[in-house]
Amino acid sequence: MPPTAPPMADVPSEPRAINGLRIRRFHGVVTAGRPRPQPRMALAGRRRHSVDRYGSSTGAAMTDDVLQGYADAAPGLIPRFEAISPALLYRPVNDLLPTIPSRIADIGAGTGRDAAWLAGQGHRVLAVEPVDELRLAGMVLHEAVPIQWLDDRLPDLVQMQGSFDLLLLSAVWQHLDDRERQCAMRRLRQLTAPAGLVIISLRHGPGAPGRRIHVAAPEDAVRMAEAEGFVTVRQKQADSMQPGNRAAGVSWTWLAFGLG
Ligand SMILES: C[S@@+](CC[C@H](N)C(=O)[O-])C[C@H]1O[C@@H](n2cnc3c(N)ncnc32)[C@H](O)[C@@H]1O
Repeated sequence: MPPTAPPMADVPSEPRAINGLRIRRFHGVVTAGRPRPQPRMALAGRRRHSVDRYGSSTGAAMTDDVLQGYADAAPGLIPRFEAISPALLYRPVNDLLPTIPSRIADIGAGTGRDAAWLAGQGHRVLAVEPVDELRLAGMVLHEAVPIQWLDDRLPDLVQMQGSFDLLLLSAVWQHLDDRERQCAMRRLRQLTAPAGLVIISLRHGPGAPGRRIHVAAPEDAVRMAEAEGFVTVRQKQADSMQPGNRAAGVSWTWLAFGLG
């Protein structure tokens, strides 16, 4: 069973350490950080790379770079993620969300905002998040609701087991390249229950510095999904929920794929 967070101390501003991370709650705000005295530096060709926890200095480790980017930005991202209303975010697919208790996996769950929202509605939710800084903060922030947490990552999701009525990938597909997307789609098919659904949001427009994204064309995702036996049941455009991203020209396509 993946770990759940130990109970939060009653004294709100006292820092707690989980897996070497300092988790603090201060006036209702949770931050998670790893003390990093001096990052090691490695030379690779003419470029210098910071070699860190997720890190590798080779181009083959692009996923690691993205995860390190999220880890580095976690103190600012945690409150930003938590400020988004899941009810508004999921409006483009709201009518497709299960209304009876279901088994749901939120992959690339961030702080577990959506996982907590769904668990609060009586669903059994697995939140899959590979970045410690986000996952551990989420465990603390949402300890009042029963979420199962898992440290695993796309495209292979090697730890993840089971069969899910709904798999959610909100704002993560843009970090995969085409080869990874194909592999991920195959894995999602294996994890989808017979009458299950996969919901994916695709980001369009600029990415954030340090968190590389790839162009995510809806027609490519549809083609990959249908090649795995899914049927496309929704394709809908949406503006960004975050004012800064909206101003920068970020928009989204919501896709839903069903079986049978
Ligand atoms: C933009 S955030 C979205 C978080 C959350 N789903 C939300 O809507 O607020 C992208 C999330 O995907 C995670 N992520 C990035 N690459 C991933 C991968 N290869 N596998 C799983 N999660 C990944 C990041 O750590 C981050 O939590």
